[in-house]
Amino acid sequence: MRLADRYGTPLYAYDAATIRSAYRDYARAFRAYRPFRVSYAVKACPLLGVSAVLARAGADASAASLGELLAARRAGFPASRIQLHGNAKTEDELRGALRAGVGRIVIDGADEIEVLARLVRSRRAAQRVWLRVSPGITADTHPHLRTGALDSKFGAPLAGGDALAQARAIAATRGLRLVGVHAHIGTELHEAERYRELGEMLVAFARDLAPLGVRIREIGVGGGLKIPLRDGDRVLPLDEYADAIASPIRAAEDLGATIYLEPGRSLVGRAGVALYRVVGTKRVAGVRTFVSVDGGMGDNIRPALYGAEYTAVVADRAGAPAAEEVAVAGRYCESGDLLIRAVALPTALRGEVIAVPGAGAYAVAMASNYNHHVRPAVVLVDRGRARLIRRRERYEDIWRLESK
Ligand SMILES: Cc1ncc(COP(=O)(O)O)c(C=O)c1O
Repeated sequence: MRLADRYGTPLYAYDAATIRSAYRDYARAFRAYRPFRVSYAVKACPLLGVSAVLARAGADASAASLGELLAARRAGFPASRIQLHGNAKTEDELRGALRAGVGRIVIDGADEIEVLARLVRSRRAAQRVWLRVSPGITADTHPHLRTGALDSKFGAPLAGGDALAQARAIAATRGLRLVGVHAHIGTELHEAERYRELGEMLVAFARDLAPLGVRIREIGVGGGLKIPLRDGDRVLPLDEYADAIASPIRAAEDLGATIYLEPGRSLVGRAGVALYRVVGTKRVAGVRTFVSVDGGMGDNIRPALYGAEYTAVVADRAGAPAAEEVAVAGRYCESGDLLIRAVALPTALRGEVIAVPGAGAYAVAMASNYNHHVRPAVVLVDRGRARLIRRRERYEDIWRLESK
């Protein structure tokens, strides 16, 4: 595997054409539901080299922190086309976002309205904001991936009038202009009907705001589409998703709102492959075979965090028949550090490269220095050329910030 030889392992390699094609898939699926914007959820992979592919393709950006906002700007997204999310934005973050000229602040909580009111008081132009609401929809996904249920830290509940009260407070604040409503009900959902419900609830709420003199022109529907990581994985087809989420919003001709889609995983997940080298094999007769590799939960915590399941191939022998079912074990000092619990592989020899496809989302983004392993290098392959977009860390990078 030439990339692994050239750049070392663990290595993440992204394919720019796959990212562009995922972006175009959204454009195609939502063509009948214009106007809409695709806003890349930078959290899925905030690397400048990856974000820049989407910035050049014409996407907006959705940031979950000031850091992501600044990264998105560096990657080439105009500030005016960035939305800032977060249930606990600090005053410094809000101030930084305003200074950066952020396009929309997605207000998440009554306290934030008070802080913002203070910060925008003396500004000449009103700051456009959205209100994040919690629609009370329980999604059929891992509890850690649900965000729209009533028992969620995100968003003002529609039930009980909290959302309406916050909208009223924003409308009464000089310097803020409420132009949008937003909800994100979770990630990796299967049921189109949940999205239809969401679209209907957001439309109904937008209409409830008209008597306050608020005209909602933008409806943010979050992200959440799953990508298939293993044979047989069930995913909601993009066209079905588009029909479910967008039909109720388009049907509301009185609003004529622009639909903001916020995909992360489905834009970059399939474009990324993780490459590891086999370090050793341990066979426990009648129990399991562990193939240990030179990466693990420090570069991809998702299997340990919420049971994400991947597949793998031995890179130079992708078509070779499987010899046995093995677990791919990481090198971190945690029993839970199994990248893959069960995958059928040809016997992998020490030094061979194992490739884990579909690793482009939320792996590098969540990477850590646990056990003082350095974070991996990342390359972007575009038009036949590979380019290093994040060099491998060195131990000195870790210690640079420390003192005795
Ligand atoms: C507010 C918001 N928007 C968009 C996304 C992107 O979700 P996904 O990467 O599953 O498309 C997330 C992810 O959790 C989110 O919290």
